[in-house]
Amino acid sequence: MELIVKTFKGLEQVLAQELEAIGARQILPKNRAVRCEGDQQVLYRANYELRTALRVLVPLFSFFAADEEELYLQMRQFNWAEVLQPTETLAVDAFTAGEVFRHSKYVALKAKDAIVDQFRDKFGQRPSVDVAQPTVRIHLHVTGTECQVSLDSSGESLHRRGYRLEGGPAPINEALAAGLVLLSGYDGSGHFVDPMCGTGTIVIEAAMIATRTPPQIGRKWFGFKSWRDFDGKLWRRVLREAKKRRTPPRHVLLGADRDMRAVRTARKNANVVGFIDEIRWEQTDLRQLRPPRAIPGSVLITNPPYNERLAIDEAFYKQIGDVLKQHFVGYDAWLISSNRQAMKRIGLRAAAKYTLYNGPLECTYNHYPLFSGKPEEAS
Ligand SMILES: C[S@@+](CC[C@H](N)C(=O)[O-])C[C@H]1O[C@@H](n2cnc3c(N)ncnc32)[C@H](O)[C@@H]1O
Repeated sequence: MELIVKTFKGLEQVLAQELEAIGARQILPKNRAVRCEGDQQVLYRANYELRTALRVLVPLFSFFAADEEELYLQMRQFNWAEVLQPTETLAVDAFTAGEVFRHSKYVALKAKDAIVDQFRDKFGQRPSVDVAQPTVRIHLHVTGTECQVSLDSSGESLHRRGYRLEGGPAPINEALAAGLVLLSGYDGSGHFVDPMCGTGTIVIEAAMIATRTPPQIGRKWFGFKSWRDFDGKLWRRVLREAKKRRTPPRHVLLGADRDMRAVRTARKNANVVGFIDEIRWEQTDLRQLRPPRAIPGSVLITNPPYNERLAIDEAFYKQIGDVLKQHFVGYDAWLISSNRQAMKRIGLRAAAKYTLYNGPLECTYNHYPLFSGKPEEAS
């Protein structure tokens, strides 16, 4: 079957590599999504094992519509009894881009009306709406006049791994955090440090990668589990095989933050996915942190605070650069920030730069290899 896997802008290539590793075929990166083909096992593995995926969609049909009325009529053309019973529940989500359909909520409502009206006419009974855990979640992707209708096999966005018990002031999205780690190439063969870890998201995702832990190990619900063709035996096999691949960490995984509350939350979140002793947490200011001596493959990833207090940020970013040069020799450091002005104050030459989005904020994700010897100054 055809699959469309959604992700963040900038992570399409990483996701394509992840899809290849789980046996998907005909992989084609698109804008904020990757299209591919796979069987039911690939569908289950995609939901359970992909780290940078947000939703795994199974396309049903597509059409062109010039307005809401036409969209309603086209939605009624499909035989919805193929995927849903009148006694079951549904939810409809929509994403719209372009000039024709501007209100995604209204599009979703029209599409839902078309489906339930068809059931009422055919069976005298209609499925009811359940936005939380419906039997079937339908996704409409509308670009201009082109409408793609899919089944959403994930149900809830896959960034919700189930380990975030409490948030912090600015937690990074879990799928984005995993993308940062995969882009850095970190694979567990060296130490990993986030010196401004907040609620621990980047360290937890790095720990999962280092220990080959499936990202959804803490999550119970997936949309496809209520589908008519759900294969419980195959699903249990996918879980068993993924868990069998887990290995203990070989090196230090360290999350530090100067805020005690953040460190406490990070530890609690990590415990949910079974990381009790695997990750070291420290309440320390970045300037006092003394990381383990680098071995090959050691990586530091962090997202420092970035806000409107530009002047404060700029001075602070200079200090970050100084700390990196003094105490993280031998590490590959990666920083993500929307404050490009402040990033210039790091004082190190970036070997690579990616543009990524942390929510609505356009960010730069920079790689600073911290060679031993005299650190290379930015020109
Ligand atoms: C943008 S948040 C990080 C969010 C984190 N990635 C998460 O997912 O929760 C920035 C963090 O840097 C921490 N921080 C700021 N200045 C610091 C310093 N001098 N030393 C250590 N941590 C610091 C803050 O306490 C905050 O938790």
